[in-house]
Amino acid sequence: MAKRSKTNNNSANNVKTARIISVASQKGGVGKTATVTNMAVGLVSLGYKTAIIDMDAQGHIAFSFGIKKSNLKKTIYDVLIGEASMSDIKQHAFGVDLYLSNNSLSDLSPKVMTHLNAKLFPAPKYLLKKAIGQIKMQYDYILIDTSPSNDIPTMNSLLASTDIIIPVLPEGLSIDGIYDTIVLIKEIQDQGSKVNILGILPTMVQDHTNLHHVMLQDLRKQFAETPDIKVFDTVIKRAIRHGLAQTHGEPDIKKAPEYLSFVKEVFAIA
Ligand SMILES: Nc1ncnc2c1ncn2[C@@H]1O[C@H](COP(=O)(O)OP(=O)(O)OP(=O)(O)O)[C@@H](O)[C@H]1O
Ligand SMILES: [Mg+2]
Repeated sequence: MAKRSKTNNNSANNVKTARIISVASQKGGVGKTATVTNMAVGLVSLGYKTAIIDMDAQGHIAFSFGIKKSNLKKTIYDVLIGEASMSDIKQHAFGVDLYLSNNSLSDLSPKVMTHLNAKLFPAPKYLLKKAIGQIKMQYDYILIDTSPSNDIPTMNSLLASTDIIIPVLPEGLSIDGIYDTIVLIKEIQDQGSKVNILGILPTMVQDHTNLHHVMLQDLRKQFAETPDIKVFDTVIKRAIRHGLAQTHGEPDIKKAPEYLSFVKEVFAIA
């Protein structure tokens, strides 16, 4: 039986409800999907009941778990527009429940933001929050993979989340992407969301290079003065094994031990 995270239990009535974590960055290719994938298999290895929701139309979570996205009959898009339930689309691989996406998710914005459909979708940014309501009692952790943009699927993800992790490559343009992401999150918080930034995770770090070493030090210095945003102690190294695991669709926490340290650090669990 899955362990129950103490922080997830409502001690008053002992009802479990998941922590919902978006991995988000306005910058592409910084390791969002790799982080979601490896965190999930890491949490499963520790006995936590874990799900992933893919909110990126690229559908890379399917690929990372060895599932062909072109074979998916129904996806998270169908749930969001009310034509399927979460249980209809659930897949299971490597111990993780998966709620997958593919290109169809690009139709979400035109479908739900049009005046014609305003009555059908009165709260188009809260469709995912509503969908997660169907499953959040079943899990300790629900991780959401997002796209590198501030589109409707990303807004839905952030507004459905309790927490956000921002991955970053310790390089100039990527670091700049953190600030765009933080601005977006502040906008969401201004709209009344209580979402919490768990912290910044340095990814694909090549600590033998001067550039990464210096940029990492800089990054830690920049955020040392913002007590509400931390840079995690754990960093994810650039390594071929990460790319290979994704290409082969075979996530394996034994080959990604930094991510196990990371989930232990971020959730203070063992
Ligand atoms: N630590 C790592 N070391 C080496 N390669 C990595 C690492 N993490 C991810 N990769 C590879 O880098 C590429 C980008 O990673 P990933 O797809 O996770 O980024 P992303 O932020 O999700 O990208 P996008 O913004 O397009 O969704 C992928 O090919 C992935 O296999
Ligand atoms: Mg991705």
